[in-house]
Amino acid sequence: MPCSLGVIGLGRMAQAIIEPLLERKDYLPENILGVVGHESSLEKLSSCLPKALRVVAANDHEAEEVWKAPIQILAVKPQQLALVQKKAQQVQTSLSVSKPLLVSLLAGVTLSHLKVAFPHHRCIRVVPNAASLVSDGLTGLAWSKDVSNPQRLAVKEIFQPISKVFELPEEQLDSFLALTSSGPAYIALIAEGLADGAVASGLPRALAYELTHRTLAGSAKLLKDKELHPGQLKDMVASPGGTTIAALRHLEKAGVRSALMEAVVVAAERSREMA
Ligand SMILES: NC(=O)c1ccc[n+]([C@@H]2O[C@H](COP(=O)([O-])OP(=O)(O)OC[C@H]3O[C@@H](n4cnc5c(N)ncnc54)[C@H](OP(=O)(O)O)[C@@H]3O)[C@@H](O)[C@H]2O)c1
Repeated sequence: MPCSLGVIGLGRMAQAIIEPLLERKDYLPENILGVVGHESSLEKLSSCLPKALRVVAANDHEAEEVWKAPIQILAVKPQQLALVQKKAQQVQTSLSVSKPLLVSLLAGVTLSHLKVAFPHHRCIRVVPNAASLVSDGLTGLAWSKDVSNPQRLAVKEIFQPISKVFELPEEQLDSFLALTSSGPAYIALIAEGLADGAVASGLPRALAYELTHRTLAGSAKLLKDKELHPGQLKDMVASPGGTTIAALRHLEKAGVRSALMEAVVVAAERSREMA
């Protein structure tokens, strides 16, 4: 039976996307075909995916079938694109599927690049974020004009169970990526610094990490649930002559706010450069 969902690059991000689809029975495992780069990855994947879900290595002849699926998720690393594109072009000319949908997760690869690389497809550019792994992610979507309404709906149904979905003009996707896709790394760095500070001032390491995680999660919840401006939350916590305002003074002297602004700007520029 031909697959209804093809996944080219069944790595971390693609698994985060398909697991909820399987749990919700939106797709049956036997209707999904996954392709990976190396045969050595197959054994590891077989232990964490349903038996009925077929996964093959890129050099297996069965891998060609992935290009017959009406929806194909492209989730290889950007540097693997050239190889995948070559493979697609070899097989696509012999296929009769009319304009399948290519859902690309590749950072910095534009719709116009995708249209040239995959001329037989309709293309969607997707920016995922790692919190989709715990079904609390953010997804940015930009469509090429020829994507039909049913195709748009089908894609939103894939990403909505794991993330809040934002449809954006493509020119905003680099900034979206710089904040949301790279964001978990910024937060991880901040978390590590805070926990190290707590250890330096006397707390045990494990407790320092637990308190850091809870402080970050609680602060994010407070900002969101009470609809606070970040400045309001800061002012709420910083009492006159107190500990927090002393720490904030230090952070401002160290240029933390401006470093964070620059980090997002630089990541967006890098994404545009990669394109
Ligand atoms: N992770 C994130 O937070 C994040 C955020 C935003 C965007 N993205 C984008 O999502 C994409 C995937 O990222 P990831 O973190 O999931 O990467 P990953 O875990 O390294 O997965 C990449 C997958 O591609 C497979 N692959 C390699 N060469 C292939 C080929 N020729 N044909 C088919 N499959 C091939 C790999 O298989 P082998 O392991 O066997 O080589 C692996 O399963 C990237 O383009 C990235 O830019 C990721």
